[in-house]
Amino acid sequence: MKITLRIWRQPSPGERGGFVEYVREEIHPNLSFLEMLDELNHDLEREGSDPVAFEHDCREGICGSCSLVIDGQPHGPGKETTTCQIYMRSFSDGARVTVEPFRSKAFAVIKDLVVDRSPFDRIMQAGGYVYVGTGQAPEANSLPVAHDVAEEAFDAAHCIGCGACVAACMNSAAVLFVGAKVRHLALLPQGKIEEDARVLRMVRAMDEEGFGGCSFTRACEAVCPKAISVEVISALNRAYCSARTKELLGWIKPSDQA
Ligand code: SF4
Ligand code: FES
Repeated sequence: MKITLRIWRQPSPGERGGFVEYVREEIHPNLSFLEMLDELNHDLEREGSDPVAFEHDCREGICGSCSLVIDGQPHGPGKETTTCQIYMRSFSDGARVTVEPFRSKAFAVIKDLVVDRSPFDRIMQAGGYVYVGTGQAPEANSLPVAHDVAEEAFDAAHCIGCGACVAACMNSAAVLFVGAKVRHLALLPQGKIEEDARVLRMVRAMDEEGFGGCSFTRACEAVCPKAISVEVISALNRAYCSARTKELLGWIKPSDQA
């Protein structure tokens, strides 16, 4: 098949970027989108040109590294699919395909299609963990978790931190990501102890990183490759209101730890 690619090229964060067209012929429909970019880069290197920078790691939908906006949609045309799981057979022969980086003020473009998603790391450092005592593993049955609670926690824990929710949001909000991280820890006994302090720290870190507010358009949910539900946003709002009230009453401090 033949594809015309319009790819965003930007040499560095401070320089202006723009679209460059590449016509690709004899593409096998069973190539993945990233393999197609590998072939393009192979040819660019052979002719002495700068290859297109893009991120990837597992190529199995697990790590959250891949991060392209394809024809205006974060992660491309698939539903509940990461960029690395998109295949060329999803496009029609002769199509013109536009490839851009995730766009958000909080995710600066580093080069071409690579953006800086370290704001997510800093939000996680603010509270996306639990304190556990080291030593022997505790008896599993000493911490019973109801089946439906475990299922809900696992659903939220599916978030791979890719950032597509931010790229899809007209406000560049990160609440689907933060909601998923807060929710899966708050549901389990190990994470309940620090629940209030955690939500205060993570929401404040999110605001400091420059993410916008939520208008509840559900664009984030529509593009999330792991089907994270906007219910985690409602739960985040409830948890924040409760924690903030306790903080104002002097019952807790954001620095509280287990
Ligand atoms: S909530 Fe979904 S879209 Fe957002 S970072 Fe997690 S997996 Fe990616
Ligand atoms: S490369 Fe790991 S999820 Fe796509």
